[in-house]
Amino acid sequence: MTRPTRFTIDLQALRENALTLKRIAGQRRSMAVVKADAYGHGAVHCAKTLLPLVDAFAVAITEEAIELREAGIELPILVLQGPHSQEDVREMANASLWPAISSEHQIGWLEQSGARFDQIWIKCDTGMHRLGFMPSEIASARTRLATQSVRDTVLMSHFADAEAPESPLTARQLARWSEIEGSSKTGSFSNSAATTGEITPQESWVRLGYALYGGSLVELPEGYSLNPVMHFESRIASVRWIEVGESVGYGGRWVANRPSRIATIPAGYGDGYPRAAPDGTPIGTQREVVPMVGTVSMDMITADITDAPDLGVGSPVTLWGASPTVDLVAAHCDTIGYELCTRITRRVPRQFHRVNKDQD
Ligand SMILES: Cc1ncc(COP(=O)(O)O)c(C=O)c1O
Repeated sequence: MTRPTRFTIDLQALRENALTLKRIAGQRRSMAVVKADAYGHGAVHCAKTLLPLVDAFAVAITEEAIELREAGIELPILVLQGPHSQEDVREMANASLWPAISSEHQIGWLEQSGARFDQIWIKCDTGMHRLGFMPSEIASARTRLATQSVRDTVLMSHFADAEAPESPLTARQLARWSEIEGSSKTGSFSNSAATTGEITPQESWVRLGYALYGGSLVELPEGYSLNPVMHFESRIASVRWIEVGESVGYGGRWVANRPSRIATIPAGYGDGYPRAAPDGTPIGTQREVVPMVGTVSMDMITADITDAPDLGVGSPVTLWGASPTVDLVAAHCDTIGYELCTRITRRVPRQFHRVNKDQD
């Protein structure tokens, strides 16, 4: 048997999450954000699963959209960063993509290329201050784009702190959004946290990323739940007892204060498990959660299983999935689940659990 470390992608959970989010989104149209290889979950498999359930896809860059087109995905695809050059504009037009336009120089490339698009999204900077036209610049951007015989334009903006509906920054962004003409009728502001949380901008589209994959940074409305799509799993490869005062791993960071039973798991930062994980980061087993102890190595981590005598060589462990969730592991590591999901490395085999065909 080869190394038992792998991650599985539960496409049925993805499908159910999409249905749940559609119910929450109500009348608004749903765009599935599948950038960065669908947040590490596999863009083509995820897009094919989501195809009957969403109105469009979004990616960050043209290359990601082309991958979907080459896999036969014909639904509209928005390219969130918009073109990076005039040639990029042509590539987008050839693949019938929707560019998100956020600057005068991008409009310039559109004009020079003469390319035609069914739909263009205009990005408004309501307070994130990364990309986009200031609200006062939207009218002139629209006028310039109108001369490009674009059939349709949609306004979009992005929350800087969607997990915090009460923050002054969110309030400022919402106020600016509501003042932009047309934002409520043909606009898109909400990401996952805004859709599932307490922010309610006037808009016609939601752009759903992280929540589709089962992650959540806010409490969901009562009666709704999401399930993790990614399950990062392995098995215990070695077990040993160590004496009081002995340490485990590089730098001797964790020291046993009782005779301790240590399990070694063949997954490390070379696989995407975060090196920043501190002692006590939870690792799931078939019964309870055990604490990770000692510095994460490139190829291994270690856990204190003194209190779990039934565990031994070959016992299955969950690095993240149903328990612990990726959000919980990320919280221990002072990061977010988005980062952990997108960082699993090529070395780890990925398996897809297919959608239950009876429900199609
Ligand atoms: C512009 C834009 N819209 C929507 C999303 C989706 O956000 P989330 O994954 O939080 O739903 C992202 C993700 O970073 C984004 O950059």
